Amino acid sequence: MASPRLPSATSFLVCVLALALSAPAARSVPFVVFHGISDACSSKGVTRFTELLSNWSSAEGHCIEIGDGAWDSWTMPLTEQTAIACAKNLQVKSMSELSNGYNLIGLSQGSMIAQGVIEFCDGAPQVKNFISLAGPHAGIASIPFCGSGILCILLDDMIKGEVYSTYIQEHLAPSGYIKIPTDIKAYLEGCKFLPKLNNENSSKRNATYKERFASLQNLVLIMFEQDNVLVPRETSLFGYYPDGLFNVILPAEETTLYKEDWIGLKTLNEAGKVKFINLSGHHLQISISDMKKYILPYLEDESSR
Ligand SMILES: *[C@@H]1O[C@H](CO)[C@@H](O)[C@H](O)[C@H]1NC(C)=O
Ligand SMILES: *[C@@H]1O[C@H](CO)[C@@H](O)[C@H](O)[C@H]1NC(C)=O
Ligand SMILES: *[C@@H]1O[C@H](CO)[C@@H](O)[C@H](O)[C@H]1NC(C)=O
Ligand SMILES: *[C@@H]1O[C@H](CO)[C@@H](O)[C@H](O)[C@H]1NC(C)=O
Repeated sequence: MASPRLPSATSFLVCVLALALSAPAARSVPFVVFHGISDACSSKGVTRFTELLSNWSSAEGHCIEIGDGAWDSWTMPLTEQTAIACAKNLQVKSMSELSNGYNLIGLSQGSMIAQGVIEFCDGAPQVKNFISLAGPHAGIASIPFCGSGILCILLDDMIKGEVYSTYIQEHLAPSGYIKIPTDIKAYLEGCKFLPKLNNENSSKRNATYKERFASLQNLVLIMFEQDNVLVPRETSLFGYYPDGLFNVILPAEETTLYKEDWIGLKTLNEAGKVKFINLSGHHLQISISDMKKYILPYLEDESSR
């Protein structure tokens, strides 16, 4: 009975050693960025964004390109973009050990791909935190970047009339998340991406999508208060027009998607895992200090938080 102290001291030492040796493995998990429409991983803005976050967090950051960048971001249907993203994430997994999980950052349309990756990818590594900047999560009611110029109005009208046709659905990426509140029937029947992503059709609802989305550790939704690209900008926080109306915007909590918990947003929020952030700025114009405040903490090693 004189020796019990020795083994426990030894095992203490062994523990310390084991901890010291495993320290590199406790490095921040990698993160993946999906860029927005008209953009590319090689663009200055996206490169800098990814590099800054990677430098600050000492986490590996990968911007994953789908197709050729800008052109494909406009013309490739989002179901296809998401399928490619799933396949590439699996590649990244084997390349750099994403197998312990990773964090996802979506920029605008890239947030649609990210949400798709979380819900649709079979056999993919676990996504821990999802940070979405200006993501059109609840849909948009106008073509992105189409201002008030006459060409834009014509284009907008032309597309709106036909937006749920097979041709537009197959050739214009944003048509996958254009939700005209006064045309919900055509939207649910013809739109190929968002109704599936948000589990909107009760007869097609997939519990696996909800289960996967609800298993996030944190969902950080960032809206830009002066965003003139997304109509309505509240879509970035899952807010949207009620069916049939254009003159009211419901906050997330008052939407049917939330109340009936189609994708687990309510489950996540009630567990304190959703951060609704309203930043001053235009579409995707985030300051360095806001990046540090609202994104960085979710990329850093959990044990250092
Ligand atoms: C990130 O760190 C590397 C290495 O220190 C440096 O060369 C690079 O300029 C940094 N990137 C940014 C955007 O500050
Ligand atoms: C929902 O999906 C079912 C089965 O595919 C389809 O028959 C129905 O039209 C859809 N509902 C709406 C409102 O589009
Ligand atoms: C739901 O999605 C999962 C994952 O993609 C799939 O395996 C399953 O077959 C789907 N279930 C239904 C009922 O469609
Ligand atoms: C965002 O913040 C501004 C004030 O800074 C406020 O007027 C606006 O209602 C907020 N929007 C949402 C959706 O919270």
